[in-house]
Amino acid sequence: MTAPELTTTLHEEVRSLAAERDAVILAHNYQVPEVQDVAHFVGDSLGLSREAAATDAEAIVFCGVHFMAETAKILSPEKTVLLPDLDAGCSLAASITADQLRQWKAENPGAVVVSYVNTTAEVKAETDYCCTSGNAKAVIEAIPRDQEILFLPDMYLGIWLEKVTGRKLNIWMGECHVHAGIRPADIERWQDEAPDAELLVHPECGCASQAMAFGNERTHILSTEGMINFAKASPKPRMLVATEIGIIHRLEKEAPGKRFEPVNRQAVCQYMKMITLEKVRDSLRDWMYEIEVDPEIAARAKLAIDRMVQLG
Ligand code: 13P
Ligand code: SF4
Repeated sequence: MTAPELTTTLHEEVRSLAAERDAVILAHNYQVPEVQDVAHFVGDSLGLSREAAATDAEAIVFCGVHFMAETAKILSPEKTVLLPDLDAGCSLAASITADQLRQWKAENPGAVVVSYVNTTAEVKAETDYCCTSGNAKAVIEAIPRDQEILFLPDMYLGIWLEKVTGRKLNIWMGECHVHAGIRPADIERWQDEAPDAELLVHPECGCASQAMAFGNERTHILSTEGMINFAKASPKPRMLVATEIGIIHRLEKEAPGKRFEPVNRQAVCQYMKMITLEKVRDSLRDWMYEIEVDPEIAARAKLAIDRMVQLG
């Protein structure tokens, strides 16, 4: 069997198991192309959370990383949530524990806690508002201006938020190793080589501050779904992309005929790539791996996640 034939066979198997088991397949924009192509819905963290909250399906197969599946379980506790590989973690979510957050809160009494969705359920349970890159600005703006805010765990996203909201935040010094690896030199080089291209930058990137400093009309700081929407709407034929390279597949699919180039081809999230088509099939066939969240933690985390889903 050739590789394309194998993919077609696996797609058929996955879709028929999903129908049989009444499961919806959700995939993040960083998933490998063949997993994106079999999903019922592909999107960013915010879109996937909304989809998980709204679905009528009996089960959700989450093609993404652990904190995303956990968020889906908290939003839909009565549904079965399956993650095809339990090792699909996130270096950013691992950069703060609930104990560290409790300590930070104790040092800053009265501060409101805003956590990026890339956190564990235990950290969310200690949080007032969750946000994603898609609505972080709206979440900060929903909080009274004189209120002190602890923002965690991504420092680059925090610095970007300070710039776009004009607010001072207390920022946790965490980072995503994939986005932190996209350095200012990567975008400088590209600006020289492709001066007419639009530059799409995820706010988790290590080059984001530099991109903001460019401040020109061709630089856009966007969530992954924001990049898709921008690419579809823009008449520009060429775009440089500063985020995990999995998004290129979706950009090419949704905005055909345009040219998309990653500024750094090494920007690959090994956790996202752990989900393969075979593992999605096995997950549906053998009903694994079920994500469970302690009900008391889930109830507290849900308050913060609900605010995230409603805002922006
Ligand atoms: P968004 O898709 O929400 O922009 O998040 C990016 C990311 O790194 C998720 O892990
Ligand atoms: Fe986490 Fe970074 Fe991978 Fe996103 S790209 S899942 S933030 S490690």
